[in-house]
Amino acid sequence: MSESQTTFIMVKPDGVKRELVDEIIRRFESIGLTLISRRDITPSLELAETHYGIHKERPFFSEVVDFITSGPVVAMAWMGENAISEARKLIGATNWEEAEPGTIRADFARSIEENVIHGSDGEDTAAFELELWFPDGLES
Ligand code: CMP
Repeated sequence: MSESQTTFIMVKPDGVKRELVDEIIRRFESIGLTLISRRDITPSLELAETHYGIHKERPFFSEVVDFITSGPVVAMAWMGENAISEARKLIGATNWEEAEPGTIRADFARSIEENVIHGSDGEDTAAFELELWFPDGLES
């Protein structure tokens, strides 16, 4: 079933430093999604810890928080039919070695941490992350 959704996407510091943002935006547009909000920011520790709160007990928690606060990221809201799952397909598996050929992570990730991009993994996560990163609302 097809449903209009909005999902949260973040190009991580490695993707920004490597100037992959324009290419990533082009790929999202090419699957028919629409960029409705964008913020270019270096996340605070609090923002990063809240974003990755679900992973608090995992061994990689502090590393992923350090990584995400190490430089500017591009936070985006993308809208379209089945945007959450369509974006996840375009992004590829978290583990770059398992990502399908042609996905963003298969093409660009260098490790499980430096995996270039984050995308919400479900409707609840998307709602939580959009509210967290765009507290003033979307389309700003
Ligand atoms: P992301 O989709 O942003 O969600 C959690 C992030 O933690 C993940 O991408 C990876 O970048 C990072 N990470 C680091 N180590 C691991 C690991 N062993 N398993 C899963 N995610 C990891």
